[in-house]
Amino acid sequence: MVWVRRLLIASWGSEMKIHSILKYAPVALVPALLLLTGCAFNTENPHAYLPDAQTEAAGVYIEQCGGCHSVPHPQRLSAAAWKSMVAVMDKRRDERKYPPLSESQRKKIMSYLEAHAR
Ligand code: HEC
Repeated sequence: MVWVRRLLIASWGSEMKIHSILKYAPVALVPALLLLTGCAFNTENPHAYLPDAQTEAAGVYIEQCGGCHSVPHPQRLSAAAWKSMVAVMDKRRDERKYPPLSESQRKKIMSYLEAHAR
């Protein structure tokens, strides 16, 4: 990277100034990198991969099925398989002292899963 140094010397004039720029450059790099990675891992809508992610049913699904693991994509299973999977999850909730799904939550989750199942 000698040419970078030469270029900097040519445009800035003094070896001293360049030395301090190079010395503090890593300090400026840290927030710059944080900013870049922050944009790359879009934290605004982490569930954008789900179909109809903005609907109320999707909201209930995300809330109730994303507490112990990542929210599974509804295309993973058939409607029938979701039915038994949600029954298994009822047991997992119980074991971990999670409150059971209310009837209205269950209805919204099941209709969301059925609508988007494979
Ligand atoms: C109380 C914690 C908890 C909640 C809440 C929960 N799960 Fe699970 N889930 C688990 C555990 C633990 C496993 C690991 C496999 C097992 O126990 O059968 C799992 C596994 C799964 C799997 C299989 C993952 C795989 O890799 O094959 C699916 C699909 C799933 N859950 C869907 C759901 C859905 C849908 C809901 C919401 C109705 C839900 N989970 C809510 C604890 C939970």
